[in-house]
Parts: sequence; C-alpha cells; structure tokens
Amino acid sequence: MTSLLRSGDVTDTDHDHRALRAAATRVLLGNWNGRGTVPSRSLYPHQWSWDSAFVAIGLRHLSPRRAQQELEWLLSAQWADGRVPHIVFNPAVPAGAYFPSPDFWQSSSAGRHRGAPAHAETSGIVQPPVHAIAAWLVHRADPRESARRGFLPRVAARLDAWHRYLADHRDLGGRGLAAILHPWEPGLDNSPCWDIPLGRVTPAAEDSYRRVDLDHSAAGDRPTDLDYARYVRLARDYRDSGYDDAAPHAFQVEDPGFNALLVAAEQALAEILRAVGADPAPALRRAERLATVLTERLWDDERRIFAPRDLHDDRLLPVAGVNGLLPLAVPGLPRPFADALESTATGERFQLGQVHMVPSYDLTSEQFDPNRYWRGPSWFNTAWLVHRGLHASGSTDAADELRAGILRDAWTSGFAEYVNPRTGAARGIRDFSWTAAVVLDLLSDPREER
Ligand code: SER
Repeated sequence: MTSLLRSGDVTDTDHDHRALRAAATRVLLGNWNGRGTVPSRSLYPHQWSWDSAFVAIGLRHLSPRRAQQELEWLLSAQWADGRVPHIVFNPAVPAGAYFPSPDFWQSSSAGRHRGAPAHAETSGIVQPPVHAIAAWLVHRADPRESARRGFLPRVAARLDAWHRYLADHRDLGGRGLAAILHPWEPGLDNSPCWDIPLGRVTPAAEDSYRRVDLDHSAAGDRPTDLDYARYVRLARDYRDSGYDDAAPHAFQVEDPGFNALLVAAEQALAEILRAVGADPAPALRRAERLATVLTERLWDDERRIFAPRDLHDDRLLPVAGVNGLLPLAVPGLPRPFADALESTATGERFQLGQVHMVPSYDLTSEQFDPNRYWRGPSWFNTAWLVHRGLHASGSTDAADELRAGILRDAWTSGFAEYVNPRTGAARGIRDFSWTAAVVLDLLSDPREER
C-alpha cells in the first residue's frame, strides 16, 4: 500500500478523497489491537497517551464506539493521584520490543505510593492533556451511542482527576501553569527547545541500556545517543524518587504547548461536566486562570511566539518551536496574540504556505534539522492543531490551504510519522496512527461536530 501511496499525489476530487479515506482507514484499523491502537506496530507497540487521543478523534468517524473504548482503555490505567501515564504497556508484547520497557519504569512497585494500578504496567511520566478535547469530540460524533454506553459518565471523573493532578502536583513554578519534568512529556522529545535545560542533565551510562528504536527507524531521523542517555537519566531519577513530583528535578519547564492544550481541555471538560449534571465552574475557573498566566508568563514579545520557561532560573528560553504556536488552538485567545502568532507562522521562521505543513522548529535557526524527529520535521498532529486554530480565528484560506497540504503529505508519504518540511519526504516510520487519524478527521463532513 505505501509504495502505491508514495507514487501518487492527491488532489481535491471526490475520487482521490475516497482513496485517501480508504487508505487511512486501513492504517488505523490495522493498528487496533483489540482494546486500543498502537501508534505503530514496529516502533511503538503499546498504547501512548496523546496518540490515543488523536486516534480517537479519527476513529470517531469510523466507529464512535471504538473511539470511546480507545479513551476508556487508556484512562483505565490512570494512577490514583490522577496522572494519566504516557504509555500503557500491552503484556502480550515481548519485553524487548520497546525501550524503556515495564521493568525500567516499574510502575506497579515504584509508583505504588502514588496509586499506580496493580493490574497494568505503565510509564510514570505524562503527555499533553488532550484527552478531554478528544472525549468531547467523540461524544458529539454520536451522542446516542455515547448515552447508550454511558460514555461521558464513565470518563468525566477520570478526566477531572487528571486535570486536578496537573493543577495540584505539577504547578512547580507556583504561578498556575503545569510544569513538565521530562522532554517526553510535551511530546516534542528532542526539540531544540530543551537543549539548554537538558544540557544540565548528567547522562546515564550508555552501556546501562539498549535503544530499540534504532532497530526500526533510521538513526538520522531519531534523537541522538547523548539525548537518549539524558532521557534515561531523568526517567530513572524520577522513578527512584517514587515518582514524587515534590522531589528535586534536574529538568523542569513550563511549556506553552502543554499548557495551551490544557486550557482547551479544561474548556472541553467543562462541557462534559455540564452534560453529566456536574458543576463545570471549577474547570472553567482553571481554564480562565491558565489562559491568563499563559499570556503573562510565556509570551516572548521579541520573537512574537510563546516560549517555554525554564524553572531552573525562571527565564524564557530563547527558542521558537511549533509548541509556541499551539496557543492558536485555545478558544478565545485574545486577538492580538492570535494575530501575532499567525504572522509568526507565515513569517520566515515557519513559512506556513511555502513549506510542507508546519515545521516543528524555527527554519532560520542553526539548531533546525529537517529530518531529526522534533528538531525541524513537520508532524501531522501539530499541523491539525494549527489548522484548528486558524479555522477558529477566522483565517479560513490559510486553514484550507494547510488542510490540503496535510492530506497531500499524508498520501505521498505513506502516512509517515513526520516529513521533511522542505521536500515533503517521509521520515521516521510509515503507517503511523495519528497521521491516519487526522486525515480521517479532515476528510469528514465539515458540518459534523468539530
Ligand atoms: N516518543 C518517545 C519514544 O520515542 C517516548 O514516548 O519512544
């Protein structure tokens, strides 16, 4: 299938869209493992947190029930302290198929005091909190099926506990934003955004573990060994603290992408709480406060973009990543910020409309690398989020152009994990779940609930 897709192109005809929809469906259903969806059968053979949320957003157009189950399965591995782990391991997959494996994270023992589940092994870190957004979209796709299965009552309390965990345990800066403790938490693993804070972390000995990712993907498309040694060190130290958020952390950053998505998720949670007859006011208050602090604390007026704040010295990092554009997807972002972000997106740093989708990092920077994971390549989920933001702020032409680009890049790359923003060449692995999911969503009838 992929060679056929790579040799063709996609235009705007119904026929092409039918073929694209069929191919995306094949990818997504092919990655379903009975209870959830793996991001990739080779590189990521378990369930990942924010991947599953994007998958559910796509799956709702194929099977609203399966989309509900996707989120329910992820949330069933939630810890009693409210955290939703970034990986839920499938016990049927051999331990050596992915690193770091369950025996590295040791969630059911090292995480016991934080309420890690005994019935499932998970990681102990988190990923961006997009789940309430996904749950609300999944519900709206088929409200009758949702009501029949009691979907919202099943997930509402868990989503609420997840957001409360971030508010109560992750406000390490004490100003109302959630902090990340590991570069895997914002989902943008090796973005140059983290080079300064990550550079302070003492790497783990490279002979103390074996990378499995390089068995499945080209080394030049993946994080370096030095980055990996630091990821391992951070995760190991957190585990050895018993996953204690109050322990000292070598890496602690307030990320604009993570927090912007939390604002949108709090708003979605308020809708969910209202729908189940619970009080939406606390979620709305948290959303309002987060949105205010986001603009006060993370706006970089020189670069005209939101930037991560390093809690080591309480300073904004001098970087421009796609995470800094994600506040565009916050409903109600004040107009001057939305306008500034749009002009940054179309300016020289991201060149929206002139390159493939939205580069993950500043094209003008020396740190930009068009092929290496999050150091420059364009990804489909972040493009979907920027598309959504452009649409919401009334930039319909730019949104439509980006949508067409996402569909074209998915088709020509064989549903790649990411693409080179200058050439559109596929990078990472193919048949990637969230790539297929956002395609299905963008191909849906625009009159459907979005
Ligand atoms: N994205 C990371 C990986 O490559 C961690 O989830 O495995």
